[in-house]
Amino acid sequence: MGFNCFSGLNQLAAPAHGSWVFFVALSLTLNVFAQTPKQTNLPVGLQSGNAFLSSEMQNLQKDASANPVSLWLEQGKNIWGTANQRSDCFQCHGDVQSMKGSATQFPKWSTNLQKLINLEDQILICSERTSRPLKGLENAEVLSLSALLHQASQGLPFAVAPSPNNQKQWQAELSAGGTMFTTRMGRMNLACTHCHDQQIGKQMRADVISPGHPTGFPIFKMSWQGMGSLDRRLRACFSGVQAEVPKPGSAELRQLELFLKIRSQELPIDGPSLRR
Ligand code: HEC
Ligand code: HEC
Repeated sequence: MGFNCFSGLNQLAAPAHGSWVFFVALSLTLNVFAQTPKQTNLPVGLQSGNAFLSSEMQNLQKDASANPVSLWLEQGKNIWGTANQRSDCFQCHGDVQSMKGSATQFPKWSTNLQKLINLEDQILICSERTSRPLKGLENAEVLSLSALLHQASQGLPFAVAPSPNNQKQWQAELSAGGTMFTTRMGRMNLACTHCHDQQIGKQMRADVISPGHPTGFPIFKMSWQGMGSLDRRLRACFSGVQAEVPKPGSAELRQLELFLKIRSQELPIDGPSLRR
């Protein structure tokens, strides 16, 4: 079977040539959907991925004692440390609650590195300042810290923004992400917008297509048997349309992340969360 189930989507109309703003507007106004997500009154284009889970998954998500995400949060807390158990991150940053809002700021332009960095990048950079440097964006400890820091920002919308001295670079990264979102790619010849604006609510294999908002990340995905980052999910979407998959941490993935976070700006962070 494989990706052949995607092939029906090849017949989608070519996208109008236009700016990403057009597509964002479109995604907020389109109103024809095969399946409406559960338990919320928001327009469908403004729904978190959590609204598209089956009711079994939603129930599991609500049950902290059974939800595997809980274990990752526990691990994150252990690595972060507390006043009683002073550990790596606590030494410099204090209680993790003091980091409320931090996850909303990423990706941000790093003047040092002259590129966009996301939260997982920052965690890796900071781990170099500890006695236990971590390696790799999908490292379990990096992801559990990311889960913990996202939890500390739950309920807040993303607040990505340029600072006065990097407006030009930031804007260029955002435009690149927006262009990518609407550019056809891979053997399926589909753009992100074809699924995540135009097919919201449609069944694709065992998934219901959501608007592709990044608010629920990182995710514990059953089929991965573990926690994964937004990078990993985006890479899966590239692979799903049989396009060349960007390397973890590549500029393209940061540009897309920036665009997705601008596109979802009105939504609160509701991650970490569970996925099929
Ligand atoms: C052929 C259809 C298709 C295309 C094209 C596609 N995706 Fe996806 N994407 C999916 C499916 C199916 C899922 C899993 C169900 C869901 O959450 O939408 C998904 C999930 C996601 C998610 C996670 C949403 C969540 O809450 O778990 C994001 C973010 C995302 N895609 C972004 C993108 C981006 C960015 C692109 C373009 C680079 C893209 N997708 C291209 C089908 C597609
Ligand atoms: C030796 C001190 C030090 C340690 C230890 C440290 N950090 Fe940091 N952290 C910083 C500094 C300084 C910054 C400011 C940005 C920069 O220079 O990278 C920062 C920034 C951050 C930020 C972004 C804050 C914001 O909103 O601007 C996060 C998130 C973060 N650190 C997470 C961690 C985690 C997770 C750990 C443990 C693995 C950790 N830090 C350990 C010094 C530290």
